[in-house]
Amino acid sequence: MSRLTQSELWSALSRHYDEIKHVHMRDMFDKDENRFKKYSLKLNDLLYDYSKNRVNDETLSLLLQLADQANLSGWIEKMFKGVSINNTEHRAVLHTALRDQDDKPVMVDGHDILPEIRKERERVKTLAENIRTRKWRGATNQAITDVVNIGIGGSHLGPLMVTEALRPHTLHDLNVHFVSNVDENHINDTLEYLNPETTFFIISSKTFTTQDTMVNAETARQWYINKLGSDEYIDRHFSAVTSNIEHAKKFGITEHNIFKMWDWVGGRYSLWSAIGLSIVIAIGSEQFDELLIGAYEVDQHFRHTPFDKNIPVIMALLGIWYNNFFDAQTMAVLPYDQHLNHFPGYLQQADMESNGKYVDRQGESTDYTTGPVIFGEIGIAAQHAFFQLLHQGTKLVPADILAPVYSYRCIARHHRALMSNVFAQTEALMRGKTETEVTAELMAEGLDDIQIKHLLPYKVFPGNRPTSTLLFDTLNAKTLGSIIALYEHKIFVQGVIWNINSFDQWGVELGKQLAKNILHELNDTATIDKHDSSTNGLINYYMQRRSKVKNQYNL
Ligand code: F6P
Repeated sequence: MSRLTQSELWSALSRHYDEIKHVHMRDMFDKDENRFKKYSLKLNDLLYDYSKNRVNDETLSLLLQLADQANLSGWIEKMFKGVSINNTEHRAVLHTALRDQDDKPVMVDGHDILPEIRKERERVKTLAENIRTRKWRGATNQAITDVVNIGIGGSHLGPLMVTEALRPHTLHDLNVHFVSNVDENHINDTLEYLNPETTFFIISSKTFTTQDTMVNAETARQWYINKLGSDEYIDRHFSAVTSNIEHAKKFGITEHNIFKMWDWVGGRYSLWSAIGLSIVIAIGSEQFDELLIGAYEVDQHFRHTPFDKNIPVIMALLGIWYNNFFDAQTMAVLPYDQHLNHFPGYLQQADMESNGKYVDRQGESTDYTTGPVIFGEIGIAAQHAFFQLLHQGTKLVPADILAPVYSYRCIARHHRALMSNVFAQTEALMRGKTETEVTAELMAEGLDDIQIKHLLPYKVFPGNRPTSTLLFDTLNAKTLGSIIALYEHKIFVQGVIWNINSFDQWGVELGKQLAKNILHELNDTATIDKHDSSTNGLINYYMQRRSKVKNQYNL
């Protein structure tokens, strides 16, 4: 047994779980009219209501002790101070330095990294503003109308999510596109209507070796050369963001178009770095600064607020409560703001690539479950898709609800309808509907006893399904920065308590390795027999069918 599960605190939490598991939140609210006041936190323009969770004072006290037992304050300081907490890659973890608004040095390997961060940010802003103000000219002296970010994972999801979230700040005559999939349909569909003379590419890849990105980058370059007949002015159309400067140069990007990132920033935490170039081009440098400030304010909150009032800490502890004691395997994230439609996808990588690990910091297998399966969708769409399971399914799915108090170009009729759903759904999930309530309702509808008896079981809602609601004034850059930072820190806190390194991602390697070998096999015509029968069978079927399909469908 691990130290975590052997601890007296863990046993106390298990005992407490046995006491509370049948307590209904409906009764908790009935008994304590201050529950909302007690279990909600305010930070700037954010309100975090966690009162619709299956917790009481004792739960929170035990969970907070868990944070102390893990020496969370020590780990927070280690992270902010640049200690090498990514222990398998021997790296510091300093996405917080990227948005630091202070002038106190942040030291890595004996030198202050802030001047370098700021210098690189200025370079990013200069390029972005030149493109935005049409100063930057392409091969035929035309202004840029389309920017294509080619990247995947952290070099894609964060920029895509932020750009979409802050769409009201984008320029009408400058479109930012994102290509991630090595499936040629993605880049073909994107390039189909673009003019190479007015298109600017950003090859975003920390390593500059990721297959999907490199294949797409090469296709983009070929497209440009084919259309323009030469690569003479390619430096007006191609840039790179990477920590592998040599590879970027080898690819043909001129040095002044290469923006640097560092090994102490993980891909999924990198939107604050030059990886955010597409964001700065889309929303402008002032808005990007706001994004950084919003995140910085949460960093300060996280670093200096006592844990019982610390939003990311509470978010993390609630997650652990459901994950490890209620055996909830999933967590839903449900934004009620259309502009956050890429937030669930972004969060999937941020959370699952960070905490989807079964080996602890000492190299031992954990005897407790770690990162949950994160899934989600725009709340309203989800209501008409999978909320049935949230309300009446057999699984407990804790959910985070995110919603704005006021919308961009708000139309009261729309926004009230939207928010009525936010409040109704969280209430319904919490309260449910009892047999007595259902019976009364059906009687009022004029159903007879037989009909009522038949329908009753289907109409009952057990309720007691936890939600946490994050209300924010409106989705501006600063608020978005804060929301992202809250989740980043929540993930970190959970990693600390689970004693795992949230900042490596060895689990993505095996598939990449095998794909490399299989790619060689696909370039050959020989029958494949080196794998298991399924893999051999699939590869051989694919190889045989290819030309037949091509001819049959005239492709
Ligand atoms: O395969 C996973 C991963 O390594 C992520 O961690 C990363 O965000 C993504 O690939 C892209 O990596 P890169 O920016 O090096 O191309």
